[in-house]
Amino acid sequence: MSESLVIIGAGQAAAQAIQSLRAEGFAGPITLIGDEAYAPYQRPPLSKAYLLGSFARERLFLKGDHYYSEAGCELLLNTSATAIDRAKKTVTLSDGRTLSYDKLLLATGTKVRKLRCPGAELPGVHYLRDIADVDGLQAVFQAGKRIAIVGGGYIGLEVAAVGAKRGLDVTVFEAMDRLMARAVSVPVSDFYAAEHEKFGVKLKLRTGVEAIEGSGKVEAVVAGGVRYPANIVLVGIGVLPNDALARAAGLACEDGIVVDQNARTGDPAIFAAGDCTRHIGREGTAIRLECVQNAIDQAKHAALAMVERPKTYSEVPWFWSDQYDLKLQIAGLARPSDHIVLRGDVASRKFAVFHLRDGAVAAVEAVNAAPEYLVGKKLIAQGTKIAPEKLADLSIPMKQMA
Ligand code: NAI
Repeated sequence: MSESLVIIGAGQAAAQAIQSLRAEGFAGPITLIGDEAYAPYQRPPLSKAYLLGSFARERLFLKGDHYYSEAGCELLLNTSATAIDRAKKTVTLSDGRTLSYDKLLLATGTKVRKLRCPGAELPGVHYLRDIADVDGLQAVFQAGKRIAIVGGGYIGLEVAAVGAKRGLDVTVFEAMDRLMARAVSVPVSDFYAAEHEKFGVKLKLRTGVEAIEGSGKVEAVVAGGVRYPANIVLVGIGVLPNDALARAAGLACEDGIVVDQNARTGDPAIFAAGDCTRHIGREGTAIRLECVQNAIDQAKHAALAMVERPKTYSEVPWFWSDQYDLKLQIAGLARPSDHIVLRGDVASRKFAVFHLRDGAVAAVEAVNAAPEYLVGKKLIAQGTKIAPEKLADLSIPMKQMA
């Protein structure tokens, strides 16, 4: 008889795993458990076109209406898994039911890190992680409103760009001394700061929010000892892995469910993929990646391991962000000690920053520069050594660098 699979978490990794398992010939029944009301959907448009209102909800969904039934996958939505019994190979659900599994995939993703300060629970304080969050924010996201954004990372800045475009009065409070510090180099941070200011966004760097004030709803934020009037607060201060279920089941977790390069946990029947995992990356160190690329590639590797054809996961990570008319594309993982090479002119709003490590391209950040990103990603995968002068020379087309 075919083995059964239960997947916990109905996001990008889950949808990819189902597709890959069927493509690899996995014939058993699949049950997908998701605590949201929706089948798997793309999160990236949420803080961009969906918030702007130019992207219909139906377009968010990763698969068509009939896909899951045709793929032999039962969807249990509005349902959470509350416990895993590894000895009995069962999962307990929030509705009291128990499901048996032969194989289990944990694709539980992340949850937002909550702001902890006085007033943080006031109505008018929003987070942005799922469809329901954006629908709640949309209702108040109107021209003329003052929005205080806490966190100058991806979420904060994408919402700032949409807010500026929609005529809101936007102020971003970022604890670090530069924007997107976790993700990009100093020149790219500085460029984005200048762009946001050009579009009318006020930036308060090195400024954490101390309190949110208001009687019954948000009226102001207090940051750096100053009171800033606000109608809306949007918090984007990072995410935490949903690994509590795995930890309670005795699986190794270290800020993420620990998996090997085949997406296996320490239990041979249990696999994990996506934002919720920590794995040994291609550079040999343990890493937890929060990106679509990791959800897709790790889910593919989990599927291969489940059908006993494991393949080592060593893909180059990639990320992107849309802010205004700027497309930021990043490949690889930079380190502060890398040698930085600028290609192109920042003022032209089309440039790339390459990161060289031991002479080889380790990462690239490209702004409105698709060839630099695409060729850069190949150079990273191949470990190509390249002279900095050559990389910086715009008279040499990118395709000649490979
Ligand atoms: P993030 O980690 O990208 O940025 C959080 C920012 O908040 C950091 O700049 C940090 O310094 C700052 N911060 C932390 N605590 C603070 C505080 N108390 N006061 C002020 N600033 C504070 O996380 P973010 O933006 O919340 O994104 C959440 C998740 O969504 C991440 O996994 C991210 O990768 C993902 N995402 C990715 C996008 C993309 O790749 N384009 C777009 C949107 C979200």
